Amino acid sequence: MIDKTKLLGFKKDGYNPVIRPKTLELMLKILDMHKPKQVLEIGTYIGYSCSEILQNCPTCNVVTVEKDKNLAICATENLKNMGFSGRFSVWNMDAFDALEKLQAEKQKFDFIFLDGAKGQYLKYLPILKVLLNVGGVLMADDIMFHGYVEQDGTVKHKHRTIVTNLRKFLQEIKEDKDFQTQIFDFEDGVSVCIKKS
Ligand SMILES: C[S@@+](CC[C@H](N)C(=O)[O-])C[C@H]1O[C@@H](n2cnc3c(N)ncnc32)[C@H](O)[C@@H]1O
Repeated sequence: MIDKTKLLGFKKDGYNPVIRPKTLELMLKILDMHKPKQVLEIGTYIGYSCSEILQNCPTCNVVTVEKDKNLAICATENLKNMGFSGRFSVWNMDAFDALEKLQAEKQKFDFIFLDGAKGQYLKYLPILKVLLNVGGVLMADDIMFHGYVEQDGTVKHKHRTIVTNLRKFLQEIKEDKDFQTQIFDFEDGVSVCIKKS
């Protein structure tokens, strides 16, 4: 396990939106079972989950996308310091633009970790499906969005679009016959889809 508190950019006294322990445990189990070669991550932050992927999946390469320039620089530095040079590339750009570029380049992935803007998961889904190899896994974090997604009643205005989009995202992945989908309700909620066909 990587000590995230030692990473550049880790806020010792503040909130760090990095993968939570049970979600990480699940991710590591999936990586161990599927042994992906090509990995895509949407939402790099300071490179913590990416470093766990690279460490636990020693034969994989990772493309990780981060729109914030300072975070992309920080993550690159962290990943280099951990000796992962040559196995990762941090794309400092908006995730949707990155997905379109990957699709145009006909790139394919065996494991995709979706952990960027929650309100955009729905928009990303059709391209993510194209990018995923048959047998590949799409894992999306924070799908319950602090519990709002499952809550009855009116959702606060500022969360309404995100919650509506996440509900539609969940409905689509559950109904998609090409996916075998499982939802985990621990931490902030995780969905795991295996592309069957
Ligand atoms: C939850 S954090 C990622 C945490 C990281 N996966 C980890 O566990 O260590 C989400 C990241 O997505 C980035 N992000 C948000 N919207 C984005 C977008 N439209 N395109 C690319 N990155 C985005 C944020 O700047 C933030 O760093």
